[in-house]
Amino acid sequence: MQALLRAAIPPLLAWFSAHKRDLPWRKDVSPYSVLVSELMLQQTRVEAVKERYVAFLSAYPTASALAAASEEEVMKAWEGLGYYSRARNLHRAAAIVAREGFPTTFEGVRALPGVGDYTAGAICSIALGLKEPAVDGNVVRILTRLFADGRCADDRRKKDFSALLKEVYPPETGQFCEALMELGALICLPNGAPVCEKCPWKGLCRAHAAGEETRYPVLAEKRARRVEEVIVLVLKYGARYALVKRKKGELLAGMYGFPVFEKADPAAYGNILAVKTAKFLFTHVEWRMTGYFISASHPFPEFLWATKEEIQTQYAIPSAFRAFRSFL
Ligand code: ADE
Repeated sequence: MQALLRAAIPPLLAWFSAHKRDLPWRKDVSPYSVLVSELMLQQTRVEAVKERYVAFLSAYPTASALAAASEEEVMKAWEGLGYYSRARNLHRAAAIVAREGFPTTFEGVRALPGVGDYTAGAICSIALGLKEPAVDGNVVRILTRLFADGRCADDRRKKDFSALLKEVYPPETGQFCEALMELGALICLPNGAPVCEKCPWKGLCRAHAAGEETRYPVLAEKRARRVEEVIVLVLKYGARYALVKRKKGELLAGMYGFPVFEKADPAAYGNILAVKTAKFLFTHVEWRMTGYFISASHPFPEFLWATKEEIQTQYAIPSAFRAFRSFL
């Protein structure tokens, strides 16, 4: 496997320098900028991150600038990207970096809040020139195909491939790391749709030689999402709308949103003006929401009451509630 992987590096690097996408985080790279982009890219698609990355870096160009902002401001700048614990972690990481400087070792980077093995590998390779692999599901996919490796593509494969990559890591650490990601994003696509004709590994790939590229990766069976039926209340009283800060242990903990109930009698809150259903997919849960727009009978004290303008400028409302913003 090692010899095959070594042979695969030069064509991969040549392909990457000819075909890589022009992505904003590939310009003016600094350790801090890579920390921001990699955290954004953890659970959000490249297309959705592009603009948000540029806006975020222009609002907070350095770790010190980010550390000086309030948590509410940072949440607002993150609005719509989802998985908000990333933003809180980034804010905490910025405080550490502002105080102590950016870490210079894998262990130091890995110890920053919100940074796991993959993200630490990416930051080390791209920003620090360290030979530290970043192996996610995409890298596992391209390598199981290259090797025609039919073992279950789970966390053990990530560990194996990471150790193997470390042995052959070339001096162009950042290029190599991003080239692996890029091959998975542009050529070696999931779901049986690889573009093998354009692949720099066409003559090397064992799955392709066997005509079996779509057999890999061999995935473990997925667990289904739990479905939760919930009621969302958009209560209006005068010019204000009811919000709640979501509790620890709930989905979207710490975020502001419309009140959500498993069971509720919407008519008990006032006159129902409109009803709309929507669904939202979290990682492990699917919300099937019925949203009621209600003219509230009084300003129920258990809620926080905010104007539309305050909601737009001060509170980051998670995308899960997007469908009901039209009630405002
Ligand atoms: N996904 C995660 N990190 C990435 C990067 N640096 N470029 C493109 N896609 C990515």
